[in-house]
Amino acid sequence: MIDRETSKKDPLVTARKTPDDTVQFENVLRPKTIAEYIGQDEIKGHLSVVMQAAKKRKEPLEHILLHGPPGLGKTTLAQVIAHEMNASIKVTAGPAFERQGDIAALLTNLSEGDILFIDEIHRLRPAVQEVLYTAMEDYAIDMILGKGPSARSVRLSVPRFTLIGATTKVSMLSGPLRDRFGSIFQFHFYTVADIERIVERSAKILGCKIDSSAAHILAKTSRQTPRVANRILRRVRDYSEVHDYSLIVDEAVRKTLDMLGVDACGLDAMDRKILTSIIKKWNGGPVGLNTLSSAFSEEEATIEDIYEPYLMQIGFLERTARGRRVTRHAYEHLGMEDRYREQAHLM
Ligand code: ADE
Repeated sequence: MIDRETSKKDPLVTARKTPDDTVQFENVLRPKTIAEYIGQDEIKGHLSVVMQAAKKRKEPLEHILLHGPPGLGKTTLAQVIAHEMNASIKVTAGPAFERQGDIAALLTNLSEGDILFIDEIHRLRPAVQEVLYTAMEDYAIDMILGKGPSARSVRLSVPRFTLIGATTKVSMLSGPLRDRFGSIFQFHFYTVADIERIVERSAKILGCKIDSSAAHILAKTSRQTPRVANRILRRVRDYSEVHDYSLIVDEAVRKTLDMLGVDACGLDAMDRKILTSIIKKWNGGPVGLNTLSSAFSEEEATIEDIYEPYLMQIGFLERTARGRRVTRHAYEHLGMEDRYREQAHLM
Protein backbone atom coordinates (compact mmCIF):
# COMPACT_ATOMS: atom_id res chain seq x y z
CA MET A 1 0.00 0.00 0.00
CA ILE A 2 1.33 3.38 -0.91
CA ASP A 3 1.24 6.03 1.80
CA ARG A 4 -0.99 8.89 0.69
CA GLU A 5 0.16 11.29 3.38
CA THR A 6 2.99 12.91 1.51
CA SER A 7 0.94 13.76 -1.53
CA LYS A 8 -1.82 15.31 0.52
CA LYS A 9 0.51 17.68 2.37
CA ASP A 10 1.26 21.07 0.91
CA PRO A 11 3.80 20.42 -1.80
CA LEU A 12 6.52 22.49 -0.19
CA VAL A 13 9.08 21.99 -2.83
CA THR A 14 7.22 21.10 -5.98
CA ALA A 15 6.38 23.83 -8.44
CA ARG A 16 2.65 23.78 -7.68
CA LYS A 17 1.29 27.06 -6.31
CA THR A 18 0.58 27.01 -2.57
CA PRO A 19 -1.01 29.64 -0.31
CA ASP A 20 2.54 30.68 0.48
CA ASP A 21 2.89 31.92 -3.10
CA THR A 22 0.08 34.41 -2.77
CA VAL A 23 0.36 38.14 -3.32
CA GLN A 24 2.20 39.17 -0.17
CA PHE A 25 4.92 36.52 -0.46
CA GLU A 26 5.61 35.97 -4.13
CA ASN A 27 4.75 39.34 -5.66
CA VAL A 28 7.47 41.23 -3.86
CA LEU A 29 10.04 38.99 -5.50
CA ARG A 30 8.68 39.32 -9.03
CA PRO A 31 10.86 41.33 -11.40
CA LYS A 32 9.05 44.32 -12.91
CA THR A 33 11.15 44.99 -16.00
CA ILE A 34 12.64 42.80 -18.69
CA ALA A 35 16.10 43.89 -17.52
CA GLU A 36 15.39 42.51 -14.05
CA TYR A 37 13.98 39.25 -15.39
CA ILE A 38 16.70 36.60 -15.18
CA GLY A 39 16.99 33.67 -17.62
CA GLN A 40 14.75 32.56 -20.55
CA ASP A 41 17.10 34.60 -22.78
CA GLU A 42 15.70 33.34 -26.06
CA ILE A 43 12.17 34.38 -25.13
CA LYS A 44 13.35 37.76 -23.88
CA GLY A 45 15.25 38.35 -27.15
CA HIS A 46 12.18 37.64 -29.34
CA LEU A 47 9.89 39.50 -27.04
CA SER A 48 12.02 42.66 -27.05
CA VAL A 49 11.79 42.82 -30.85
CA VAL A 50 8.02 42.22 -30.86
CA MET A 51 7.47 44.85 -28.16
CA GLN A 52 9.68 47.47 -29.79
CA ALA A 53 7.99 46.94 -33.17
CA ALA A 54 4.51 47.30 -31.66
CA LYS A 55 5.59 50.46 -29.82
CA LYS A 56 7.08 51.94 -33.01
CA ARG A 57 3.86 51.26 -34.91
CA LYS A 58 1.81 52.51 -31.94
CA GLU A 59 -0.21 49.33 -32.09
CA PRO A 60 -1.19 46.89 -29.36
CA LEU A 61 0.98 43.77 -29.16
CA GLU A 62 -0.17 40.69 -31.02
CA HIS A 63 -1.53 37.91 -28.83
CA ILE A 64 1.12 35.86 -27.02
CA LEU A 65 1.04 32.26 -25.78
CA LEU A 66 3.44 31.18 -23.00
CA HIS A 67 3.81 27.49 -22.30
CA GLY A 68 5.94 25.27 -20.12
CA PRO A 69 6.07 23.58 -16.68
CA PRO A 70 4.64 25.38 -13.63
CA GLY A 71 6.72 27.84 -11.60
CA LEU A 72 8.99 29.01 -14.42
CA GLY A 73 7.68 32.59 -14.51
CA LYS A 74 4.90 32.73 -17.12
CA THR A 75 2.67 34.99 -15.01
CA THR A 76 5.68 37.08 -14.03
CA LEU A 77 6.66 37.57 -17.66
CA ALA A 78 3.08 38.61 -18.55
CA GLN A 79 3.30 41.29 -15.88
CA VAL A 80 6.71 42.37 -17.15
CA ILE A 81 5.24 42.70 -20.67
CA ALA A 82 2.41 44.87 -19.34
CA HIS A 83 4.91 47.05 -17.49
CA GLU A 84 7.14 47.43 -20.56
CA MET A 85 4.15 48.28 -22.78
CA ASN A 86 2.69 50.72 -20.23
CA ALA A 87 -0.50 48.70 -20.39
CA SER A 88 -2.90 47.65 -17.67
CA ILE A 89 -3.24 43.95 -17.13
CA LYS A 90 -6.25 41.91 -16.05
CA VAL A 91 -5.24 38.55 -14.60
CA THR A 92 -7.60 35.62 -14.72
CA ALA A 93 -7.64 31.85 -15.31
CA GLY A 94 -9.40 29.42 -17.65
CA PRO A 95 -11.61 27.75 -15.02
CA ALA A 96 -13.04 31.17 -13.98
CA PHE A 97 -15.25 31.31 -17.08
CA GLU A 98 -18.35 29.19 -16.86
CA ARG A 99 -20.47 30.69 -19.61
CA GLN A 100 -19.93 32.66 -22.79
CA GLY A 101 -21.42 35.68 -21.02
CA ASP A 102 -18.59 35.67 -18.44
CA ILE A 103 -15.90 36.19 -21.03
CA ALA A 104 -18.07 38.55 -23.10
CA ALA A 105 -18.51 40.80 -20.06
CA LEU A 106 -14.78 40.86 -19.39
CA LEU A 107 -13.82 41.53 -23.00
CA THR A 108 -16.29 44.35 -23.56
CA ASN A 109 -15.03 46.08 -20.40
CA LEU A 110 -11.41 46.21 -21.57
CA SER A 111 -9.80 49.40 -22.87
CA GLU A 112 -7.69 49.81 -26.00
CA GLY A 113 -4.20 48.37 -25.44
CA ASP A 114 -5.13 46.44 -22.27
CA ILE A 115 -3.55 43.07 -21.65
CA LEU A 116 -5.78 40.16 -20.69
CA PHE A 117 -3.81 37.37 -19.04
CA ILE A 118 -5.52 33.98 -18.95
CA ASP A 119 -3.63 31.37 -16.94
CA GLU A 120 -4.40 27.68 -17.58
CA ILE A 121 -5.92 28.71 -20.89
CA HIS A 122 -6.22 25.02 -21.86
CA ARG A 123 -9.01 24.75 -19.28
CA LEU A 124 -11.33 27.18 -21.10
CA ARG A 125 -14.56 25.48 -22.12
CA PRO A 126 -15.02 25.05 -25.89
CA ALA A 127 -18.03 27.42 -25.94
CA VAL A 128 -15.95 30.09 -24.15
CA GLN A 129 -13.05 29.52 -26.53
CA GLU A 130 -15.37 30.24 -29.45
CA VAL A 131 -16.11 33.71 -28.11
CA LEU A 132 -12.41 34.28 -27.65
CA TYR A 133 -11.57 33.32 -31.28
CA THR A 134 -13.61 36.13 -32.81
CA ALA A 135 -12.51 38.60 -30.14
CA MET A 136 -8.85 37.78 -30.84
CA GLU A 137 -9.23 37.96 -34.59
CA ASP A 138 -11.90 40.55 -35.32
CA TYR A 139 -12.06 42.46 -32.01
CA ALA A 140 -15.75 41.63 -31.91
CA ILE A 141 -18.02 39.09 -30.29
CA ASP A 142 -21.28 37.64 -31.54
CA MET A 143 -23.87 37.16 -28.87
CA ILE A 144 -27.26 35.51 -29.23
CA LEU A 145 -29.89 37.53 -27.46
CA GLY A 146 -33.23 35.99 -26.53
CA LYS A 147 -34.48 32.47 -27.05
CA GLY A 148 -36.54 30.54 -29.59
CA PRO A 149 -37.92 32.22 -32.70
CA SER A 150 -37.20 35.72 -31.44
CA ALA A 151 -33.51 34.99 -30.82
CA ARG A 152 -31.14 37.22 -32.75
CA SER A 153 -27.42 37.61 -33.03
CA VAL A 154 -25.75 40.90 -32.25
CA ARG A 155 -22.15 41.80 -32.89
CA LEU A 156 -20.46 43.76 -30.11
CA SER A 157 -17.12 45.39 -30.64
CA VAL A 158 -14.21 44.74 -28.30
CA PRO A 159 -11.34 47.24 -27.79
CA ARG A 160 -8.05 46.25 -29.40
CA PHE A 161 -6.51 44.24 -26.59
CA THR A 162 -3.66 41.76 -26.25
CA LEU A 163 -4.35 38.30 -24.96
CA ILE A 164 -1.50 36.57 -23.12
CA GLY A 165 -2.39 32.94 -22.57
CA ALA A 166 -0.38 30.62 -20.33
CA THR A 167 -0.51 26.86 -20.17
CA THR A 168 1.37 23.85 -18.90
CA LYS A 169 -0.32 21.75 -21.59
CA VAL A 170 0.01 23.32 -25.00
CA SER A 171 -1.12 20.05 -26.63
CA MET A 172 -4.56 20.49 -25.07
CA LEU A 173 -5.18 23.78 -26.88
CA SER A 174 -7.38 23.55 -29.94
CA GLY A 175 -5.72 24.27 -33.28
CA PRO A 176 -7.90 27.34 -34.00
CA LEU A 177 -7.00 28.90 -30.63
CA ARG A 178 -3.29 28.21 -31.04
CA ASP A 179 -3.31 29.67 -34.54
CA ARG A 180 -4.57 33.03 -33.32
CA PHE A 181 -1.44 33.80 -31.30
CA GLY A 182 1.17 35.96 -33.05
CA SER A 183 3.98 34.56 -30.87
CA ILE A 184 4.27 31.27 -29.03
CA PHE A 185 7.05 31.00 -26.45
CA GLN A 186 8.16 27.82 -24.74
CA PHE A 187 9.67 28.12 -21.25
CA HIS A 188 12.59 25.91 -20.32
CA PHE A 189 13.94 24.90 -16.92
CA TYR A 190 16.53 27.42 -15.67
CA THR A 191 20.26 26.81 -15.43
CA VAL A 192 21.70 26.49 -11.92
CA ALA A 193 23.66 29.73 -12.56
CA ASP A 194 20.44 31.62 -13.36
CA ILE A 195 18.69 30.24 -10.28
CA GLU A 196 21.69 31.37 -8.20
CA ARG A 197 21.25 34.91 -9.55
CA ILE A 198 17.52 34.77 -8.77
CA VAL A 199 18.25 33.58 -5.21
CA GLU A 200 20.77 36.37 -4.68
CA ARG A 201 18.36 38.97 -6.04
CA SER A 202 15.49 37.64 -3.89
CA ALA A 203 17.68 37.55 -0.76
CA LYS A 204 18.48 41.22 -1.28
CA ILE A 205 14.79 42.09 -1.59
CA LEU A 206 13.97 40.06 1.53
CA GLY A 207 16.75 41.84 3.40
CA CYS A 208 18.87 38.79 4.15
CA LYS A 209 22.49 38.02 3.27
CA ILE A 210 23.40 34.70 1.67
CA ASP A 211 26.91 33.60 0.82
CA SER A 212 27.62 32.36 -2.69
CA SER A 213 28.23 28.76 -1.69
CA ALA A 214 24.89 28.61 0.16
CA ALA A 215 23.15 30.17 -2.84
CA HIS A 216 24.73 27.49 -5.03
CA ILE A 217 23.46 24.63 -2.84
CA LEU A 218 20.00 26.17 -2.78
CA ALA A 219 20.02 26.61 -6.57
CA LYS A 220 21.04 23.00 -7.15
CA THR A 221 18.12 21.72 -5.09
CA SER A 222 15.43 24.01 -6.53
CA ARG A 223 14.22 21.87 -9.43
CA GLN A 224 15.65 24.52 -11.79
CA THR A 225 12.46 26.46 -10.96
CA PRO A 226 12.36 30.04 -9.56
CA ARG A 227 9.14 29.50 -7.59
CA VAL A 228 10.73 26.57 -5.76
CA ALA A 229 13.99 28.48 -5.19
CA ASN A 230 12.17 31.47 -3.71
CA ARG A 231 10.08 29.23 -1.47
CA ILE A 232 13.08 27.35 -0.13
CA LEU A 233 14.87 30.69 0.37
CA ARG A 234 11.99 31.92 2.54
CA ARG A 235 12.22 28.76 4.64
CA VAL A 236 16.02 29.12 4.93
CA ARG A 237 15.52 32.74 6.03
CA ASP A 238 13.10 31.52 8.74
CA TYR A 239 15.65 28.97 9.92
CA SER A 240 18.47 31.53 9.92
CA GLU A 241 16.46 34.12 11.82
CA VAL A 242 15.41 31.61 14.46
CA HIS A 243 19.03 30.45 14.87
CA ASP A 244 20.45 34.00 14.83
CA TYR A 245 22.55 33.65 11.68
CA SER A 246 23.37 37.09 10.27
CA LEU A 247 24.58 35.45 7.05
CA ILE A 248 22.94 32.45 5.40
CA VAL A 249 25.64 29.81 5.09
CA ASP A 250 25.74 26.22 3.77
CA GLU A 251 24.72 24.75 7.11
CA ALA A 252 21.47 26.73 7.27
CA VAL A 253 20.53 25.65 3.74
CA ARG A 254 21.41 22.00 4.42
CA LYS A 255 19.44 21.92 7.70
CA THR A 256 16.42 23.52 6.03
CA LEU A 257 16.54 21.07 3.12
CA ASP A 258 16.70 18.20 5.63
CA MET A 259 13.67 19.59 7.42
CA LEU A 260 11.79 19.84 4.11
CA GLY A 261 12.86 16.32 3.12
CA VAL A 262 14.59 17.59 -0.01
CA ASP A 263 17.63 15.68 -1.25
CA ALA A 264 20.73 16.78 -3.17
CA CYS A 265 18.91 16.50 -6.52
CA GLY A 266 15.95 18.55 -5.29
CA LEU A 267 13.65 15.53 -4.96
CA ASP A 268 11.10 15.49 -2.17
CA ALA A 269 9.47 12.51 -0.46
CA MET A 270 6.75 12.22 -3.10
CA ASP A 271 9.23 12.17 -5.99
CA ARG A 272 11.21 9.44 -4.26
CA LYS A 273 8.03 7.52 -3.52
CA ILE A 274 6.99 7.64 -7.17
CA LEU A 275 10.39 6.35 -8.31
CA THR A 276 10.81 3.65 -5.65
CA SER A 277 7.24 2.42 -6.14
CA ILE A 278 7.74 2.05 -9.89
CA ILE A 279 10.94 0.14 -9.15
CA LYS A 280 9.47 -2.10 -6.45
CA LYS A 281 5.95 -2.69 -7.73
CA TRP A 282 6.44 -2.58 -11.48
CA ASN A 283 10.08 -3.63 -11.84
CA GLY A 284 11.05 -0.14 -12.97
CA GLY A 285 8.24 0.11 -15.54
CA PRO A 286 6.84 0.71 -18.03
CA VAL A 287 3.70 1.56 -16.10
CA GLY A 288 0.72 3.57 -17.32
CA LEU A 289 -0.16 7.02 -15.98
CA ASN A 290 -3.65 5.86 -14.94
CA THR A 291 -2.15 3.03 -12.87
CA LEU A 292 0.18 5.48 -11.12
CA SER A 293 -2.67 7.87 -10.56
CA SER A 294 -4.79 5.30 -8.75
CA ALA A 295 -1.82 3.89 -6.82
CA PHE A 296 -0.99 7.34 -5.43
CA SER A 297 -4.59 8.62 -5.21
CA GLU A 298 -3.37 11.62 -7.13
CA GLU A 299 -4.92 13.10 -10.26
CA GLU A 300 -3.22 12.14 -13.52
CA ALA A 301 -2.77 15.85 -14.29
CA THR A 302 -0.91 16.39 -11.00
CA ILE A 303 1.52 13.56 -11.68
CA GLU A 304 1.95 14.63 -15.28
CA ASP A 305 2.26 18.40 -14.74
CA ILE A 306 3.82 18.72 -11.28
CA TYR A 307 6.05 15.71 -10.68
CA GLU A 308 7.04 14.27 -14.03
CA PRO A 309 8.51 17.27 -15.88
CA TYR A 310 11.43 17.66 -13.47
CA LEU A 311 12.00 13.91 -13.09
CA MET A 312 12.25 13.74 -16.88
CA GLN A 313 14.36 16.91 -17.07
CA ILE A 314 17.03 15.32 -14.83
CA GLY A 315 16.79 12.03 -16.71
CA PHE A 316 15.28 9.94 -13.87
CA LEU A 317 12.07 9.06 -15.68
CA GLU A 318 11.24 8.31 -19.31
CA ARG A 319 7.93 8.38 -21.11
CA THR A 320 7.63 5.50 -23.52
CA ALA A 321 4.72 4.37 -25.71
CA ARG A 322 3.93 1.69 -23.09
CA GLY A 323 4.15 3.95 -20.04
CA ARG A 324 6.60 5.52 -17.60
CA ARG A 325 9.99 3.93 -16.94
CA VAL A 326 12.59 4.69 -14.28
CA THR A 327 16.11 5.15 -15.66
CA ARG A 328 19.39 3.77 -14.42
CA HIS A 329 20.34 7.25 -13.08
CA ALA A 330 17.37 7.14 -10.72
CA TYR A 331 18.31 3.67 -9.43
CA GLU A 332 21.80 4.99 -8.75
CA HIS A 333 20.53 8.12 -7.00
CA LEU A 334 18.27 6.00 -4.78
CA GLY A 335 21.09 3.55 -4.01
CA MET A 336 19.22 0.72 -5.76
CA GLU A 337 21.87 -0.30 -8.30
CA ASP A 338 21.52 -3.96 -7.28
CA ARG A 339 17.90 -3.95 -8.25
CA TYR A 340 18.79 -2.31 -11.55
CA ARG A 341 21.08 -5.23 -12.37
CA GLU A 342 18.38 -7.75 -11.36
CA GLN A 343 15.70 -5.99 -13.35
CA ALA A 344 17.74 -4.95 -16.37
CA HIS A 345 17.05 -8.21 -18.16
CA LEU A 346 13.27 -7.69 -17.69
CA MET A 347 13.30 -4.31 -19.41
N1 ADE B 1 11.77 35.67 -9.56
C1 ADE B 1 11.07 34.69 -10.10
N2 ADE B 1 11.41 34.48 -11.37
C2 ADE B 1 12.38 35.37 -11.66
C3 ADE B 1 13.13 35.64 -12.81
N3 ADE B 1 13.01 34.93 -13.93
N4 ADE B 1 14.02 36.62 -12.74
C4 ADE B 1 14.18 37.31 -11.61
N5 ADE B 1 13.50 37.09 -10.49
C5 ADE B 1 12.61 36.12 -10.51
